[in-house]
Amino acid sequence: MARLSDTAQAQIIAICDRYNDEKTPLMMILSDIQKEYGYIPLEVQELVSDKTGIPVAEIYGVVTFYSFFSLKPKGKYIIGCCLGTACYVKGAQQIIDKFSDILGIKPGETTEDGLFTLDALRCLGACGIAPAVSINGKVYPKVEVNQVQGIIDELKGGAN
Ligand code: FES
Repeated sequence: MARLSDTAQAQIIAICDRYNDEKTPLMMILSDIQKEYGYIPLEVQELVSDKTGIPVAEIYGVVTFYSFFSLKPKGKYIIGCCLGTACYVKGAQQIIDKFSDILGIKPGETTEDGLFTLDALRCLGACGIAPAVSINGKVYPKVEVNQVQGIIDELKGGAN
């Protein structure tokens, strides 16, 4: 198993220490780790277990149950395709399929170069501009299948 760097260990321990006085700190600790460390691999779960006394199996159960926690690092660009009802009826499935085809990954996966993660999302609250795609928090309105390649190219250009 990969060993955490000293910096990462210190970061995770500091996050755990924030919630020393909480009776049920696990969700708060995991949320902070996800936000600040980016993902929650097994070695991080073991460290949280050592610090809190919560069994690894319980921590693993929580991390894998909630989709906003991730066991693997996410890409530089997180492409979230809304598959809510309004977007779905306007062709969102074809949009996510196109991203999937071009990037060679399924929803929930990250490209090997670490650039892109593809996610399927529920309603983004932007149904008036369906189908909507959110990329690192920026919402792209009324996305059409033939725009997908251009969006990816634009992001790749910005990554250099
Ligand atoms: S269903 Fe996609 S933004 Fe509401």
